[in-house]
Amino acid sequence: MLELSHVRSGYGRTEVIHDVTMTVPDDSVVAIMGHNGAGKTTLLRAAVGLLPTKAGSITFDGENITKYSPSKRVKRGIAYVPQGQQSFPQLTTAENLQVVADGRKRGKALIDESLDLFPALKDLLTRKAGLLSGGQRQQLAIARALITEPKLLILDEPTEGIQPSVVAEIERTIIDLTGRGGLSVLLVEQHIGFALQAAHFYYVLHSGHLGSSGKGGASAEAEVRAAMAI
Ligand SMILES: Nc1ncnc2c1ncn2[C@@H]1O[C@H](COP(=O)(O)OP(=O)(O)OP(=O)(O)O)[C@@H](O)[C@H]1O
Ligand SMILES: [Mg+2]
Repeated sequence: MLELSHVRSGYGRTEVIHDVTMTVPDDSVVAIMGHNGAGKTTLLRAAVGLLPTKAGSITFDGENITKYSPSKRVKRGIAYVPQGQQSFPQLTTAENLQVVADGRKRGKALIDESLDLFPALKDLLTRKAGLLSGGQRQQLAIARALITEPKLLILDEPTEGIQPSVVAEIERTIIDLTGRGGLSVLLVEQHIGFALQAAHFYYVLHSGHLGSSGKGGASAEAEVRAAMAI
């Protein structure tokens, strides 16, 4: 589905991502782990086209998207929920969902499907997004991304600063969504346990270089902890 091949990216002349090669297969959850500043967000920004790929290539469903703008990548089916869960703070929950659904044939149905995945949002439809809690905002951000009917959902630390019960709910939703087929998730996550429970594959990033990688699942935890300790 998504393939990064020898990708180099960064800010201006500063290269942050060095020669990263990784794959997100169809119908799978892939977790990227690494310490603060390892380059996880930078890698996602390159994948969605918000930062240029200076060398290497990115393909999506067999199409070379390396030079595509972010909006063209969205049209191809890549949705991105940035770290810090941005929605429009002055708009209500319902309006935040509606602006994404506008112009889509199945708009109303897509909003209903998203709300079914995050039922907690149903009681918050008239509340301004800026007044939601961190966990509620994260759920709204994922719900908005899903309205674009993505084939690949990219989430940057969806559990950052969120209480365990909401983390568990988001985790269940991710597993549930990918289990239905037709959607893959690329997840940046610092909670190793959470990431591995949901992930089929993991990659560890060290200072912009790819460290170890392997299959997910709880049994990989010791391996990942050792890789992160380096
Ligand atoms: N806009 C920017 N301009 C220049 N350097 C940046 C910029 N944003 C990030 N960096 C640098 O790039 C490196 C990687 O940052 P990045 O945000 O990708 O890390 P991260 O792995 O996502 O960290 P965290 O876990 O804290 O979110 C860091 O050294 C950071 O200082
Ligand atoms: Mg980050």
